[in-house]
Order: sequence, then structure tokens, then C-alpha cells
Amino acid sequence: MSSMLPSSTRVVSGMRATGRLHLGHYHGVLKNWIRLQGQYECFFFVADWHALTTHYEDPGVIAQSVRDMVVDWLAAGVDPQSATLFVQSDVPQHAELHLLLSMITPLGWLERVPTFKDQQEKLRERDLATYGFLGYPLLQSADILAYRAAFVPVGEDQVAHIELCREVARRFNYLYGREAGFLEKAEEALRIMGRKSAKAYKDLREAYLEKGDKGALETARALVERQANMTLGDKERLLGYLEGYGRLILTEPQALLTPQSKIPGVDGQKMAKSYGNVIGLREGPDEVARKIKTMQTDPARKRRTDVGNPDLCPVFRFHEIYSSEDTKAWVRSGCTTASIGCLQCKQPVIEAINAELAPIRERARELEQDNAHVRTILAEGARQAREAADDTLGDVRRAMGLAWE
Ligand code: TRP
Ligand code: SF4
Repeated sequence: MSSMLPSSTRVVSGMRATGRLHLGHYHGVLKNWIRLQGQYECFFFVADWHALTTHYEDPGVIAQSVRDMVVDWLAAGVDPQSATLFVQSDVPQHAELHLLLSMITPLGWLERVPTFKDQQEKLRERDLATYGFLGYPLLQSADILAYRAAFVPVGEDQVAHIELCREVARRFNYLYGREAGFLEKAEEALRIMGRKSAKAYKDLREAYLEKGDKGALETARALVERQANMTLGDKERLLGYLEGYGRLILTEPQALLTPQSKIPGVDGQKMAKSYGNVIGLREGPDEVARKIKTMQTDPARKRRTDVGNPDLCPVFRFHEIYSSEDTKAWVRSGCTTASIGCLQCKQPVIEAINAELAPIRERARELEQDNAHVRTILAEGARQAREAADDTLGDVRRAMGLAWE
């Protein structure tokens, strides 16, 4: 019998394989992952199946993107010693769980997910009236539930997907969490706890189920987890019973909102590939210099002799990320009195970006030349992921009547 206890601090996140990464990804997603990998048991994967749901007509892009993306992660500091890194399609358990969850997921739940219609409208050049695309958020739910993850770092646009995932987990637990003779088994487990603890458990359970007292739920969970002479199966039963289910087979995850990257694109809009305004993680120093030199400034500052306002200038937003207080003060006074030119102002930004990217470029170059190393990392990651996911799938198959031996 597997245990849900150690996985309560698992984190799962995926990135669609749609190309190379840029500074926006670095300052948003990747820095966040790097922080999380030191705190939780993290599973990070390249979502190549998810890429196929929209890009099924160009498989060539996907294969190349998988490699590029993993090289970018590693070069940026995502650490395969701290986090499990893998490719979604190397872990068939995600697909199996997706299939099994599809049996119990009402169509209406999927049709109502806002991204379904939004993306169909946005990506008009692609035909997204497909079965696979409708199932996108359910596949994502399987990605998460397969590991019984507690947290899922995602952007704002993905919160509705996590909500669906929670509903699916709840429905699954509701349908399959009640084993035959459950109440008797729970009573038996309570007897093992001893009279005093059993009474405390019952009171706390009532306080949670009847009054929604979350503190009582936490206390009761801790009480169950402290029981030294109880089997893991009994612990799971008592944990599940606390929330009104028989057993919690799948864990409802929570979204961890990724802090928005403050980096603007070179046109002042959000940095995004589709806007053509990105600085790539592996771009060379000259390319970075060229992009910053031709970047938008305060539109009011047309001539060198015009004064400008840094608060209206996207270049200053780079200074806010990269520059010291002294440099920012120099920009402010120089810009508002027209005593420095925009090219002068941009120079420290160019230098700071290049200093940040230098070690990333260097590591990426080494990784590019060591294909075998990247392959080994992904093979080992996939092995660990399959093992973790299969633990959950064992319980799911049994619960759904598929363990016939
Ligand atoms: N849908 C996510 C996105 O577009 C990518 C993704 C796929 C994902 N599976 C996931 C994110 C599981 C978090 C967890 O960004
Ligand atoms: Fe922007 Fe700097 Fe030029 Fe002022 S001097 S407009 S802050 S680039």
C-alpha cells in the first residue's frame, strides 16, 4: 500500500515544448522553480503532448523544442540533483491516468474551461475543434494528480485548469474512495488509537465537517500522522474519513501563482515570443546590444536635447531590475535634464544583461556539445517520475476495478 504522507510537499509543473526560452521566462518561471527546488520535492517536465494538442501539424518543432528547453533550464540553474526533470511522453502513466479520468469527467466541465474557447479564437489558423484539445486541461490534471502534488506553480492564465484538477480529484475520491466495509475498518483503526485519541479525532472531525473548522482538520491530521503503531492503509482511511470520504486516493493540489516577470519586451509590452520582442537566453552580446540600442524610449524624447521621463520609458524598467541606486539616480537626473543621451543611458543595461547571460550562454554551449549528458539526466528523471506516478496509478487501477489478478 502506498502512502500519501511524504508527497504532501510535492510540487509539479510543466512547460509546453514550443521553443527556446527568453529573459521573461528566466525572471518569471525559472527563478521561481530554482527557489522551489530547494524547498520541495519538485517534478518539472517538458509537456510535449500538450504541445501536440495545438501544434499537431508541426511535429518537427516539438522534437527540437524539447532539447532546447531542457538545455535552457539546466543552463539557467534548474538542478537535476534537486528536482526531477523529465519529458512528459517518457512517462506513459500520465496518459493512462488521463484516459482513466476521462471516464468520470463530465463533458460540460471541459467545455466550460475558459481557455478552451479563448484559445480556439486566438489561434484561428489552427483547427482546435479536436478531442485532444478539449482534453488539454484533463491531461494537465493527470500530470499533477499522478504525483499527488500539493502545489503547482503556474501563471494566472492556468488557475482555471488547477480548479478543474481539484474538481476531478474530488469526484474521483467521492466515487472510488468508499471501499466495502469502510466504516468498520475506520472504527477498527480508531480502536488502535486508544480511547482518548479516538475521542479527540471524532470531536475534531465533527468540528471540521459541521463547522468547517480548518484548524481542527489540521490538528486531526497531525494526530493521525503521529500514530506510530498504525498501518499506512489505516492512516489513509482515517485521513480520508476526516474529509467525509472513505479514503483520499487523489490529492487536491493548490495553485502557486508564479510572480509576474517585471521585464518588458524591447517594445515596452509584455515580453512574449508571439510579440517578437524577446531577448533569448542564449542570444549573443552583440545581438543583445543591438536590441537594446534600438529599443523604444520615452516617446516625448525625440531629440537629444528634449528632456524625458524615466517613468514613461521601458528602458528604465530594465534599470529597475538591473541597476544600483546610484545608476538609477544618474538616469533620473540625466534624463530629466537632457544631460545624458538615451544610448548612454542604455549602456549599463546592455552590460548588466550580458553579465547575467554570460554564464548561462556558456553552460548552454557546453550542454549542447554533451548530448549524452542531457539524455542521461532526462532518462534518470523519467525513471524516477515513472516510479512515483506508478505508485498512484496502482491505487487508481485498484480503485477502478482494473487490478483483476
Ligand atoms: N498548461 C501549462 C501551460 O500552458 C503547461 C502544463 C502542462 C502544466 N501540464 C502541466 C503546468 C502541469 C503545470 C502542471 O503553461
Ligand atoms: Fe529612457 Fe534613459 Fe532615454 Fe530617459 S535617457 S528616455 S530613461 S532611455
